Amino acid sequence: MSLGAWLDDRLGTRSLAAGFFYRRIPRAVGWPHTLGSATLFLLLVQTVTGIFLAFYYVPSVEHAYGSVQYITEQVPFGAYVRGLHRWSASLVVIFAVLHLVRVFFMGAYKYPRETSWVVGVLLLGIIFAFGFTGYLLPWDQKAYWATVVGTHIAEWAPGVGDVVARLLRGGPEVGIRTLGRFFAFHVLFLPTFLWLLVAVHLFMVIRQGIAPPPVGRLAVIRPEEYRDRYEESKAEGASFLEHLTRDSVVALALLLIASWLALRYGAPLEEIADATTTTYVPRPEWYFYFLFELLWVFPGRWTVLPAFWIPVLGFLALLLLPFLDRGPARSPLRRPVASLAATAVLVGVLFLTYKGATAPAPPGSAPVAGAILSPELQKGREVFEAQGCGACHTVAGQGGASGPDLSSIGSLRDAAWLGRFVRDPEAVKAGSAMPDSKDLGGEDLSALVGYLSSLK
Ligand code: HEC
Repeated sequence: MSLGAWLDDRLGTRSLAAGFFYRRIPRAVGWPHTLGSATLFLLLVQTVTGIFLAFYYVPSVEHAYGSVQYITEQVPFGAYVRGLHRWSASLVVIFAVLHLVRVFFMGAYKYPRETSWVVGVLLLGIIFAFGFTGYLLPWDQKAYWATVVGTHIAEWAPGVGDVVARLLRGGPEVGIRTLGRFFAFHVLFLPTFLWLLVAVHLFMVIRQGIAPPPVGRLAVIRPEEYRDRYEESKAEGASFLEHLTRDSVVALALLLIASWLALRYGAPLEEIADATTTTYVPRPEWYFYFLFELLWVFPGRWTVLPAFWIPVLGFLALLLLPFLDRGPARSPLRRPVASLAATAVLVGVLFLTYKGATAPAPPGSAPVAGAILSPELQKGREVFEAQGCGACHTVAGQGGASGPDLSSIGSLRDAAWLGRFVRDPEAVKAGSAMPDSKDLGGEDLSALVGYLSSLK
């Protein structure tokens, strides 16, 4: 008995394979429908290259940077594999988003595929979490400072911000524990959930079949008539094998493009992380630019909008889209409101990404860009403004000149001294010309002192 027959006898593999490969797919399924399988292929590339990187990578503050350097400079094909992992990560984001956009405009999230959409959006969230956690692992300046900013942003979550930020960092600051945590998330937790959800997503796609493109009689379909229309469309369609050829062509092209980028541009490694640098301007990976740029659109106390509400509500709206938009129209032209809203969001995100890519240093971010984002320091700065300190003192080039420039007061005076002096200057420096702040509440005073101490 041949192996195929042996397996078929036990597992029914032949009929399974026949059902999968020799089936018809709806009419007009074409190249845009390869975006999902392209994303799947890139995720495979990430997994394989990630496993090879893990052979050499050491997740400790002492050795992380050196091990990445070793991979890049010594390990055979190390620079290539690392470059591939880096570039294919960006391609995953691009293709996952393109896939989502395609599904959105073809109305493929509607009945009976609401659940595939929900799982797909969760997968997109996981992909972004991969990006955020992976960015720290090389432990260079870029990695360190982007994570300082990222975890400060988490502090803005109302009520639970401190807990979330501490959970992420494993302590009050980014350090040894943060690296261990991000590594565990990146190589254990996230891949487990990724492949579990990918399996569920694929099961759903196979079970429901490829969604029919919203053309002709399929531009508007109600659930009652859906099954019949779908069968009709399949009867006119081509074989799945033909589509599989398209998928393979795209996968091969992507492998070539990612390889070219990896060999041509590699993956950067800056100076080793240094928590005492004061001039480094942190920047996240490009696919977070749109959120990062929003931070400068809503400064001060409004930071909670871009730091929390906009991403969280945006993600929820995306997740629940099939339940919010339940009309029978699938063609983008038959549902102008949804199409226009989505186009506006897309244009906004593209514009902010472009701005983030071309305007490196956001205004006022220079020395402590990370620190300024924490709510506690934000409060301190507000007290500073409300008390009129800026009328006499300059900070980062702004303010009056009757008192000394405070731009680096944090490295000249310690917090205890600052607390005593600001409350009652006379008591510390006899004859001081500065007005006292004895009437300032304890909380406001400590926020103010925290802010002054952060100016280095
Ligand atoms: C009317 C102007 C004026 C205002 C308003 C003012 N200061 Fe001052 N401040 C001064 C002058 C002048 C000095 C330096 C001479 C002195 O110690 O009297 C000074 C000194 C300081 C110093 C000490 C610098 C050092 O290392 O010796 C700190 C810190 C400081 N101010 C913080 C603040 C804060 C915080 C506020 C707001 C609550 C504030 N100042 C409001 C005039 C002002």
